[in-house]
Amino acid sequence: MPTSLTILPGGTLEGHIAIPGDKSITHRALILGALQKPHQNIILQNWLQSLDCYATRHALQAMGVQFEDINATCVMINSVGLYGLQQPSIILDVGNSGTSIRLLTGVLAGQRFSSIITGDASVCKRPMRRIITPLTAMGAKITAVNDEYAPLKVTGDQKLRAIQYNMPMASAQVKSAILLASLYASEPSTVHSPSQCRDHTEILIKHFSKEVDIPGDISAAAFFIVGASITSGSDIILENIGINPTRTGIIQILLQMGANIEINLPRQLNGEWRADIRIRGALRLKSLAIPEDLVANAIDELPILCLAAACADGVTVIRGAAELRHKESDRIAMMAAGLTSLGIRVEIFNDGLAVHGGKICGGDVSSGGDHRIAMTFAMAGLVAQGPIMIQDTQNIATSFPSFVQVSRQAGLLIAEENSYA
Ligand code: S3P
Repeated sequence: MPTSLTILPGGTLEGHIAIPGDKSITHRALILGALQKPHQNIILQNWLQSLDCYATRHALQAMGVQFEDINATCVMINSVGLYGLQQPSIILDVGNSGTSIRLLTGVLAGQRFSSIITGDASVCKRPMRRIITPLTAMGAKITAVNDEYAPLKVTGDQKLRAIQYNMPMASAQVKSAILLASLYASEPSTVHSPSQCRDHTEILIKHFSKEVDIPGDISAAAFFIVGASITSGSDIILENIGINPTRTGIIQILLQMGANIEINLPRQLNGEWRADIRIRGALRLKSLAIPEDLVANAIDELPILCLAAACADGVTVIRGAAELRHKESDRIAMMAAGLTSLGIRVEIFNDGLAVHGGKICGGDVSSGGDHRIAMTFAMAGLVAQGPIMIQDTQNIATSFPSFVQVSRQAGLLIAEENSYA
């Protein structure tokens, strides 16, 4: 993946766009596939082959799970069962993947061995007490830097205690860590969330079969959904996109802003809803006070929604989104800095931001090493008045390795890709 990208103004998005498999579901399918009854060949169709998902796969491989690539989009897992993982001889390193470290720590909590799990500089700054507290209450021993940060040393226990847990924040990763650990407890656990968050772990545990088909990632699709919505003349179709109701906040919000989005042929497979989505450029979006109950539902899409807001008439307000400060970067700070340097007025709050619709100029922006910030500013190039140069774009490969190729094919004018070794 290039380390910087330059986007020229004037592109429009057209045609069928190939969106890769869902990142959240891929992590869960890799883990739950490995933990199925021993010696089964589990097939994952359309798994996301991105750096984050490889981090989960490599960690499982380091614990003795074997994978075989069947073709470009399909992998076979030789399951080892709940009690078949082996102590890794290396430190498990998840790179940039917060989902990998939080979900795998849930699994490690239920092992009879101890292990160390860590990640890159960004992961080592992300809060972990949110999983340490419940997993410790279940009987695991976890030590962390300042009781909060990776590397985590996890000493598991195969007879974990069930818990009734009220999460202080709506976090699917925390919920999933507890659910995975609870596979190692003799009684059922219960997790309460202050608001709805994605439920892929629950769905997959219930619907797991020897073959799992993963829908396209709505969080990856979101860049094109917004890109097409803000560019008159755009007309795109995204096929087989996951429309799990815990993930479609982005669509509900954009519809309220006046976007032209059609959801066609909804269907369900392996418990997950999917559909084909058609998006046509709208004349001009309207601003919106984003309802707080949709915020957790659209948490990963808030950066690209800030771009929609910058292209809307009026002021769009996002509140109740303090979690954005704890993602791959502080996304409130990164979006505010980038949009401001492109001529958009932004006010920052502890838990969100207000974006004043306006005209986007060309200029230089940094992604802060965050894939979703980088892809957001690439889409800004569609409506900017001059070229946009985005620095630090290599992390796009953590979630969407084909992004440059796919967006160029769709009509985004990518002038330069620079790679510095
Ligand atoms: C994810 C949950 C979300 C999301 C992240 C992926 C998951 O985080 O932001 O990108 O796969 O469970 P939370 O755990 O904060 O909900």
